Amino acid sequence: MGLTSRKRLATLIEESSAEGEHTLRRSLTASNLVLLGIGAIIGAGIFVLTGTAAAQHAGPAIVISFVLAGMGCLFAGLCYAEFASMIPIAGSAYTYGYATLGELVAWIIGWDLILEYLFAASTVAVGWSGYVVAFLHRLGIDLPTSLTTAPFTVEGTHEVVATGAILNVPAMFLVLLLTALLVRGIRESASVNNLIVYVKLAIVLLVIGFGATYVDPANWTPFVPEPTGKPGQFGWNGIAAGAGVIFFAYIGFDAVSTAAQEARNPQRDLPIGILGSLAVCTVLYILMSLVMTGIAPYGELDVPHPVDVAISKAGPALSWLAMLVDIGAIAGLASVVLVMLMGQPRIFFAMSRDGLLPPLFSHVHKRFQTPHVATIITGSVAALIAGLFPIGLLGELVSIGTLFAFVIVCAGVWVLRRRDPDAPRAFKTPMVPLVPLLGIATCGYLMIGLGAATWMRLGIWLLIGFTIYFGYGRRHSRLASEP
Ligand code: ALA
Repeated sequence: MGLTSRKRLATLIEESSAEGEHTLRRSLTASNLVLLGIGAIIGAGIFVLTGTAAAQHAGPAIVISFVLAGMGCLFAGLCYAEFASMIPIAGSAYTYGYATLGELVAWIIGWDLILEYLFAASTVAVGWSGYVVAFLHRLGIDLPTSLTTAPFTVEGTHEVVATGAILNVPAMFLVLLLTALLVRGIRESASVNNLIVYVKLAIVLLVIGFGATYVDPANWTPFVPEPTGKPGQFGWNGIAAGAGVIFFAYIGFDAVSTAAQEARNPQRDLPIGILGSLAVCTVLYILMSLVMTGIAPYGELDVPHPVDVAISKAGPALSWLAMLVDIGAIAGLASVVLVMLMGQPRIFFAMSRDGLLPPLFSHVHKRFQTPHVATIITGSVAALIAGLFPIGLLGELVSIGTLFAFVIVCAGVWVLRRRDPDAPRAFKTPMVPLVPLLGIATCGYLMIGLGAATWMRLGIWLLIGFTIYFGYGRRHSRLASEP
């Protein structure tokens, strides 16, 4: 068995339904899965990054950036839905890679997904900390900066500089609290998630509904500002650069697929969860960005709290909403961290069951039936990163990691259609190979826009991954040791 050896579909499906000490509890319904998706999607992207993307890259045409990034996600989402309905296993893209492109590619995706899930949890926890500090300030409570910001920042491409701060304590606190909840149980975690998601959806709808009445169409002209000559600033290039930045806002719908082994009826419900959450969020994002750029001149949105700024433009009539926006963001960002911290251990779980990571990662708690060891390891590392690093450094790494996984999943659907055309597929991606190809093209295009420093970091990350694979995974792979 070599680097390109693949797992048989039949083996994978057997594993997903096997009973025993490595089984997770099946308790999630279709609506839980849609809410899980929305929980993971609406967060720092819309509440933090939209303003910068509009002010620095696209102007009001940030709406078009949302449509563009949404299309890339739709193509990828349709491919995820086919795989999730065929191979309902916790490992998500890692497992799909194992079934189609072989062990080495599977390892690369699994390793790459750490950038998406674990790093996203840390990134969004840092954003959450920022909102909590601002919210407490509004209430007259000021936390010391040295305990609420990162001790390190990166200047230029790689120069690490000390900021004088000690640790970002609120960010670490959130990650550790949610880790404890996730160890306790998937059903409990889903209930908390559902509640938080209702709160954030209600607030997003209030912003759209009330904000719409204060829109001044003059703020939308020119809709596509003239390019300034600086790369990625306005014009078509600005729209594309904006799409690269706000792509982060869409990340998370694929996290639904990591709960495959805890879904009651995965074949039917995973595609509903993936595509349903994506559709709801795309519509909300387009409306929200129209309202934000309609109330405030886009140049004024270049702040860490752009939704607040937009709302305050409406004057005292909406000041009650500003407070709610903070609550919505605090709730919203917390649910993103929750779902990301849920997804990561389930990918580790699948990798460990295949022998590519030590057996410890697939231990399941006897009473709670959760992958508790992997959850605690994930939570501890994510807390440490959230405590030490700033949001800007982490965000683009999360985006490039996710886009890379999307490209491979799109390619995988096409490969499996050719190789195994008759395998049962509860959900079929329409128009193969056109949709996967469009997915590869759009996500690849967004990746290119992410810049050399981010590519270099991805390269270094993958090199570390190769070292671990050849040092451990390859020698312990269960597939490789099969006769
Ligand atoms: N989509 C998630 C967010 O915007 C990661 O926070």
